[in-house]
Amino acid sequence: MHAAEWDARYAERELVWSAEPNLFIVEQTEDLNPGSALDLACGEGRNAIWLATRGWRVTGVDFSAVALDKARVLAEHVGVDLTLQREDLSAWSPPSASADLVVITYVHLPSESMAHLFAGAIGALAPGGVLVAVGHDRDNLTRGVGGPQDPHILWTLTAAQEWIRHGAEAAAVEVTLPRAEQVVRQVSDPDGTRTAIDTLLRVVRR
Ligand SMILES: C[S@@+](CC[C@H](N)C(=O)[O-])C[C@H]1O[C@@H](n2cnc3c(N)ncnc32)[C@H](O)[C@@H]1O
Repeated sequence: MHAAEWDARYAERELVWSAEPNLFIVEQTEDLNPGSALDLACGEGRNAIWLATRGWRVTGVDFSAVALDKARVLAEHVGVDLTLQREDLSAWSPPSASADLVVITYVHLPSESMAHLFAGAIGALAPGGVLVAVGHDRDNLTRGVGGPQDPHILWTLTAAQEWIRHGAEAAAVEVTLPRAEQVVRQVSDPDGTRTAIDTLLRVVRR
């Protein structure tokens, strides 16, 4: 989807996503000492805002101006400072070695753009920095729920591990991958509660 399509989607209703942070971002960052954080494709800012309430200095990046405006309003409402930046993540890269934490949640782009995004995310990690990435897993098509229905842009562990390998090589840094697995989330909708499958990655720069 292009930025204008995301703008239109974000303009449709008050909050497209929840105001609550993603549960895996909470789980994977609670043990970290706050520093500087980057939320790549931050949308309406639910994760960026939650991190800011925990003491992180957060920059949220997205190419949807409407999403960034909503994130700004939500951050003001919660009473936290966010730096918000409008960029196309399939072309732009964050400053290298600048972040103690990078988060990416539910970004689904063609594989070349995903490789670029992860190379930028890994390059942005300061030594000891952590990348937490969560995406809709391809297995949702057969035994889960939610996310895009195009198998080519859904995440798999194999593809995600390749983005990381390529990203570390492109950034010329060493990383470890303490978590790379499928995880499940319960999703409630008018049809009841169902199970969504995510791909979860935790990457640490040496
Ligand atoms: C499914 S939403 C997830 C938003 C947020 N990460 C969350 O979990 O609430 C995907 C986001 O990616 C953004 N996005 C998609 N392609 C992008 C690109 N090429 N550059 C920057 N942002 C992009 C969209 O504008 C949208 O906000």
